[in-house]
Amino acid sequence: DALLPVAFLIGYLFGSIPFGMVLTRLAGTQDLRSIGSGNIGATNVLRTGRKGLAAATLLGDMLKGTIAVVIAGSIDGPNAAMVAALGAFLGHLFPVWLKFRGGKGVATYIGVLLGLFWPAALIFAVIWLGTAYTTRYSSLSALIAAFVTPLFLWWFGHNALASLFAVLTILLFYMHRENIKRLQAGTEGKIGEKK
Ligand code: G3P
Repeated sequence: DALLPVAFLIGYLFGSIPFGMVLTRLAGTQDLRSIGSGNIGATNVLRTGRKGLAAATLLGDMLKGTIAVVIAGSIDGPNAAMVAALGAFLGHLFPVWLKFRGGKGVATYIGVLLGLFWPAALIFAVIWLGTAYTTRYSSLSALIAAFVTPLFLWWFGHNALASLFAVLTILLFYMHRENIKRLQAGTEGKIGEKK
């Protein structure tokens, strides 16, 4: 465990790559900050009307977390993998490259979960998709899936992971504070809606 700070740094460096920002700039779409929620994530990339770019953003923001976890885990074991997960999540939320104004963490949450314990990532995805299909709210789907994830991990007997993801869920809720207000007010945009 001597390499835990290195694991955190690996996580942070991968996590702080803002795929939504990079891909929309390369494609020359509208600036993500000036449309929809102003967020840099896949849901807001979808509001540019470019489905392929949104899918690529989701995949990139997810897999950067998975890769960081797998690399750190192979260098220094399971604790390093967990520290890298925390680093990747914080990197996505607070990237130094964007003056620490990053995303809300949904894709990276599922990505690090995939690298640490894939069955829980599968459950997250099923809950997200089920809620999104019925409500069309991306944020609500993420909030529900993230709420149950630590409970599932605990139920599976992965107590350390349950604690880690409880922290990530609290951060994820905090990042969605504006979405939560809009959901309560009935003004949250639905998936694919350009507003
Ligand atoms: O990934 C963030 C999602 O839950 C909500 O995105 O753009 O609607 O705030 P957005």
